[in-house]
This record gives sequence, structure tokens and C-alpha cells, in this order.
Amino acid sequence: MSGHPSTYNPSTGFEKWLDKRLPIVRFSADFMDFPTPKNLNYWWTFGAILVICLVIQIITGVILAMHYTPHVDYAFASVEHIMRDVNYGWLMRYLHSNGASLFFLAVYIHMFRGLYYGSYKAPREMSWILGVIIFLLMMATAFMGYVLPWGQMSYWGATVITNLFSAIPVVGESIRTLLWGGFSVDNPTLNRFFSLHYLLPFAIFGVVALHIWAFHTSGNNNPTGVDVKDVKKDTLPFHPYFTVKDGFAIVLFLILFAAFVFFNPNALGHADNYIEANPLVTPPSIVPEWYFLPFYAILRAITFDIGPISAKLGGVLAMFGSILVLFVLPWLDTSKVRSMRYRPVARLWFFLFVVACLALGWLGGKPAEGIYVMWAQIFTAYYFAFFLLILPLLGIMETPKPMPRSIAEAVTKPKPPEAAAPAGAVPAE
Ligand code: HEM
Repeated sequence: MSGHPSTYNPSTGFEKWLDKRLPIVRFSADFMDFPTPKNLNYWWTFGAILVICLVIQIITGVILAMHYTPHVDYAFASVEHIMRDVNYGWLMRYLHSNGASLFFLAVYIHMFRGLYYGSYKAPREMSWILGVIIFLLMMATAFMGYVLPWGQMSYWGATVITNLFSAIPVVGESIRTLLWGGFSVDNPTLNRFFSLHYLLPFAIFGVVALHIWAFHTSGNNNPTGVDVKDVKKDTLPFHPYFTVKDGFAIVLFLILFAAFVFFNPNALGHADNYIEANPLVTPPSIVPEWYFLPFYAILRAITFDIGPISAKLGGVLAMFGSILVLFVLPWLDTSKVRSMRYRPVARLWFFLFVVACLALGWLGGKPAEGIYVMWAQIFTAYYFAFFLLILPLLGIMETPKPMPRSIAEAVTKPKPPEAAAPAGAVPAE
């Protein structure tokens, strides 16, 4: 799994005995020694942050499940019981609910990092594709988890999203019935969502192991996008250099996490979810959690039929398409240069893409009417154009900037004259 020659030498008799039967110490030693590009910046710490997020979600989730009751008559009350009666139940719940939000914040940063530095390009296509699978699993897990407290937004969010499946021709109605376990969102729905919400994080854990295996086989990308040429000059062992750097970033991230949990634990949630689910009262507006808003905006941007495709089906296709397009991204981007550091034109379009995603997030929380719909349509069009037109064309048309010959050169060589101190500046003594 390590993808580099092993330096582990078992010294004691027991170590030699174990190494022949289960080389787990060798595996861990090689993992810690993994040659890592020496120029990785702080954007590369989000992978480790994500591992911590996943562990926090699993631990707090398992504890919450000990006190939660997956039944429509008791679910809401059991969550209130966790908040008021269970020792540190409030802490477990706030860690879990805010943890989900911070998990998504970290995964979005991790994905945009990958986009900017071309980490999806050969030979890292599998790391990227497994990442997209993790992202889909995370979305399914978070969606089903949000239904469990059985508040108004849980119930109505589940109703809106499960109803979308009925737009799929031929099999749509059957899929919806299967998801519901009946003919509306009800107790069987809550039961199956609880079961899957408990199961999927372990599936995510498995895919994360494959994800890490994949980039340990190809080696990490780095901010220059230039391949490792000389392991001695271009890389450093993962431990202690990057364990310390990742550790520092994790501490900063946990401070932000604690600020939410202890000072504003409901800031990222919706007040309506503190009202018990009522199938007879529709809330004034049904909005998903913030991390789904860009996709919700894309779903609602398709307000017109396209030939035989109804507006509803068009919205569903656009929403799923916006994630599925990521699977083929490694083959859509035709540029030979990985990092956008050396792609000045692509970089501008990339920043516009970030703006489009943020704008879609904002629009997803607004009512689907008037000017909001028009803007959502413009940004949705840009979202797809970025992947399907801009990246394929720029790869052919753009002239990249000169690149360093190696990672070592990028780290040690003085900056080019235009980036150096202005003419006439007095050099430091
Ligand atoms: C639970 C979620 C995830 C975990 C725990 C995770 C973990 C990691 C770790 C530890 C690394 C190495 C350190 C780093 O590059 O930051 C990494 C790299 C990578 N991840 Fe993820 N990841 C997750 C989700 C994703 C997603 C959703 C994507 C993309 C859709 C993705 C794409 C990548 C790629 C392409 C690399 C190689 C990066 C490089 O070497 O430049 N990951 N991931």
C-alpha cells in the first residue's frame, strides 16, 4: 500500500516472527515514512482534517444511537431526552450536528484544492473518483441523518427529496415507494433511514481506505503539479514533518469547531426543526442544510420543459448531473499542466467557478421566484460550461507560464525578477 521501498528492519525475535505472519508494524512504519513532496501547503492538511471529522461523527453517532428511538411517535422526544436528561447528551448532539457541517466545509475546501492544483489528473484519477464516491455517500448519510430528529424540516425535506425520484420515467414511482416503505414518508421511512444512516459511515470509512491507498500508490500531488524527480531532494518523510503540520491544522480546525459547538450551536441549523413533524402543516419554506443549497438551487433552476423532459425531471437530471460530471473531469480537462499556478487564464475561470458555487449556495436559500430563478439559471449554466466547455477548450488554447523543473527547484530557486523586490529597494542586511 505504501508504494515505496520498505525501510523497516525488525530487530527483536518477536518483531521478526510477527513480520512474517502479519506485517502490520512494517505497514505502519512504511506509512509514516511515506515520501511526501516537501512543498505541500496548508491546503493539503484538509485530508487529515477530514479523517478526524469522520472519526468524530462515528464516535458521537454511536453514542447518540444508544439513546435515540427510531419511531415516529418517540423520535422527536428521544432527541429532547438526549439534550436534557442524558449526561453530556447535549454535547454529543451538538458535536454530531455541527460536526456534519464542518465535515462538509472541509470536504468542499479539499475538493476545490483538488480542482485548483489538478489533483484529479493522471495518475490520480482513482483518488479523485473514489473521492466523488465518498462525497455521494456523505450526501446520502447527511440527508438521512437530518430526517432522524423528526422535526418539521426533517419531515418536509424528506418528502420533497424522495418525491423527486418519482420524476424518473418507468421506475420512478417504484423507487419512491421503496424509499418510503409505504405510500408516504412515515415510520418505515424513518426506520430504514436510521438503519442506513448507521451503516453508511462505515462504508465511507472503507472507501476512504481505498482513497488513501490510491494516492499512496501514485504519490501525492503538490502545489507545482510537477512530478517528484528525485525522492531525496523533492520529498520528506510523512512523519514527523507532515504529522506535525497536519496536527497543527487539526488544532486550528477544532478551535473553529468548538466555537460553533459551545457558543452558537444552532447557528447552522433551522429553527423549524425544533417543531415536531406534522404531516398536516407545511412550513412556509422548505430549505435543506447549507451544504446542500448549491445543488438545491440547480434542482430548482430548471423551470421549463426540454422536449419530452419535464421541468421536474430536468431539475433532477441537472442536480445529479452536477455531481456525476465530476467523475469524468479527469478526461474533460485536456491541459498537460496540472497546477493552475501556471495556468493564468484557467485560474480566472476557476475563481469565477468558485463565485458561481457560492452564489448558487446563496440562491438555494432564497424563494424560487423572480430574479432569483434567473440568476440560478445563469450560474447553473456556468457550472456546467466550466466542466464541459471551458476546461476542455482551455487545455488546447491556453499558453501556460514557465514551470520549475523540479519540486526542489520551486522551493529553493529565487523568485523570478518581476516578483522580486521593486527596483531601488535596499536589500536587508
Ligand atoms: C471523508 C472524506 C475524505 C477523506 C477522509 C479524505 C482524505 C484524504 C487524505 C488524507 C488525502 C491526502 C492529504 C491531502 O491531500 O489532503 C487526500 C487526498 C486526495 N483527496 Fe481526499 N478525502 C476525502 C474526500 C475527498 C473527496 C470528496 C474528493 C474529491 C471529490 C477527494 C479527492 C482527493 C484527491 C484527488 C487527493 C489527492 C490529492 C493530492 O495528492 O494532491 N477526497 N484525501
